[in-house]
Amino acid sequence: VWSQVPMGPADPILGVAAQFKADPSTTKVNLSIGAYRDNDGKPVVLDSVKRAEQIIKEKKLDNEYLPVEGLQSFIDASIKLGYGDAYYAQNGKSIAGCQVLSGTGAVRLGFEFAKKFLPQGTKVYMPNPTWPNHHNIARMAGLEISEYRYFDPKTRGVDFSGLVEDLNKAQNGSVILFHACAHNPTGCDLTTAQWTQLLDLTKKKNFLPFFDMAYQGFTSGDVNKDAEAVRLFTAQGVPIVLGQSFAKNMGLYGQRTGCLSFVCANQQEKDKVVSQLKLLARPLWSSPPLHGARVADIILNTPELNQLWLQEVKMMANRIQLMRVSLANTLKSLGSPHDWSHISKQIGMFAFTGVGPEHVKELIAKYHIYLLSSGRISIAGLNEGNVKYVAEAFHDVTKN
Ligand code: LMR
Repeated sequence: VWSQVPMGPADPILGVAAQFKADPSTTKVNLSIGAYRDNDGKPVVLDSVKRAEQIIKEKKLDNEYLPVEGLQSFIDASIKLGYGDAYYAQNGKSIAGCQVLSGTGAVRLGFEFAKKFLPQGTKVYMPNPTWPNHHNIARMAGLEISEYRYFDPKTRGVDFSGLVEDLNKAQNGSVILFHACAHNPTGCDLTTAQWTQLLDLTKKKNFLPFFDMAYQGFTSGDVNKDAEAVRLFTAQGVPIVLGQSFAKNMGLYGQRTGCLSFVCANQQEKDKVVSQLKLLARPLWSSPPLHGARVADIILNTPELNQLWLQEVKMMANRIQLMRVSLANTLKSLGSPHDWSHISKQIGMFAFTGVGPEHVKELIAKYHIYLLSSGRISIAGLNEGNVKYVAEAFHDVTKN
């Protein structure tokens, strides 16, 4: 029956992670997927998560379905975390929230909603480059995609004039996808002044800003600072859409824990939006997963655990920053003819190294160091035990 089905290509990120897993080398290094590792290269279950899980166990809770929209106390706490306490206190009643399957689920449900309720032909503008799955999600939701310039390979920084030029040309009312912080894959974020300029442009052109915030806390170590762009826009009354994931900042990767929210004009509008989100989510996943939402809910709503979690976020961000500096410095001390300072200047979980696909192939074949063909590395995969090996390999493949 299925003989005509062609073999699909591997995912540009998950495919590399699978290649790493299958490699029997004892010196292999996984710099592909954005998942935090400790200094021994091991996955981490945060202490705040362990303590929340202990509380869940002691409460002897059942495994009944959540409602389609999810666990309400988790949704409220997520919204508070994203928009800030003050905004929530004033406007919380008009924010429509829905629990979703992590960042992917947030973008998917948000795009499905945009497709259904925005005028036909409305395009979504994405940064070039962006997380490759953004394109898949928009395509599956039936949204037309356009791109705006984001990265300048020459400066290894944001191409802000290109970005503004492209968005100026975009049709009024377009959906503009922004990475709220820790841009994936470039590791380059916008400055406050640049966000302010984009806010003016957004208002002028009546754009719908869609913030994908999958790394809140990973840029600065401070969850409030990292939500700056979201709060800048909402303070001016811009009706944003916000996707939040707890995969990275709580390490709840496989639990698929996230929240999608819409700033609405009033409570009535909010109720209608939630009712439609439920209608879209029901045939997609029926109701969202329970465990991760319970964990995040307890952490966000228990002051002592919340404090512990905030410290753990800072700890993860700090270790990544240390590894950035260590990799850049080691490359310099090895006498690399290239300037690698962008690695320590970039932010978030990734560095956009600038190495080309040929170098990537050599790093994988010769050194069993796995990274994306775009040259993106997950800094979280570096540690004191492998950073020198990685620097030596990068130096070797790029020195001529
Ligand atoms: C990544 O960019 O590596 C992560 O967001 C993991 C994923 O699902 O692609």
